[in-house]
Amino acid sequence: MTTSAAPRLLFLRRAACQPDRIGTFFPTSPTMATELSRVLPSTGGPTVVEIGAGTGALCPSIRRRLDPTARYLAVEIDPPLVEHLQTSLPWLEVLEGDAADLGRLLTTAGVGAVDAVVSSLPWTLLQPEPRQRMIEEITRVLRPSGVFTTICCVPGLPHRRREFRRLLESSFDEVLTTATVWRNMPPARAFVCRRPRPAP
Ligand SMILES: C[S@@+](CC[C@H](N)C(=O)[O-])C[C@H]1O[C@@H](n2cnc3c(N)ncnc32)[C@H](O)[C@@H]1O
Repeated sequence: MTTSAAPRLLFLRRAACQPDRIGTFFPTSPTMATELSRVLPSTGGPTVVEIGAGTGALCPSIRRRLDPTARYLAVEIDPPLVEHLQTSLPWLEVLEGDAADLGRLLTTAGVGAVDAVVSSLPWTLLQPEPRQRMIEEITRVLRPSGVFTTICCVPGLPHRRREFRRLLESSFDEVLTTATVWRNMPPARAFVCRRPRPAP
C-alpha cells in the first residue's frame, strides 16, 4: 500500500465507525486546505489550533503557511486518528479530547489565548447543544484580533447550514464566505469569522 493510500483507508474506516462525528468519506482536498490556511497569520509566531485534524489533510498547508516560530496544535477526539497523527506527523502537537473542552485542553498544554482556529468539523451534522458549546469555547480562547475559519459543504441540508451561519453571526462580529471550492469532495466554501463576541 502506498503511503497516501494508508491514511485514506484509515479515514474511510473511521468514517464508517463514527459517521456523525466525521460526516464524510473524503478527507479535505489540498485546494480547500490552501483556502482555509490563507487567512492564518504568516508571520509573528502565532498560536494556531486545528480542531478535528482527522488523518492530517489540512496539516501540510497549515504548516507551510506558518513561520517556524509559530505554535501549531491539533485537537482530535478519535483515538485511532490521534495515534495516526502522532506517528505520521511527529512535529504536530496533538491534544486528544473533545473540542467542547477546548479551553481546558489548551490550558493543560500551557496555552492561554490563540491567534487562529481552523476546523473542518461536520458542523451541520452536530447536535445544536454541543455545537454551540464548541463555538463558545472557540470565541473564549481566541484573541480579540483572532480568526476562526471553517469548512461549510455546499450540498447538504440548507436549513442546517442557515442555522450554523446564524450561530456564527451571533458569535462573531464579521462572518465572510469564500467562493466555492469545486475541487473538494463534496464542494465546499470556507467561513472566515473575525472579532469574537464575548461568550455568555
Ligand atoms: C470531517 S473530519 C475532518 C478531518 C480533517 N481535518 C480533514 O479535513 O480531512 C472531522 C474530524 O473531526 C473530529 N471530531 C469530531 N468531533 C470532534 C470533537 N467534538 N472534538 C474533536 N474532534 C472532533 C473527527 O474525529 C474527524 O477526525
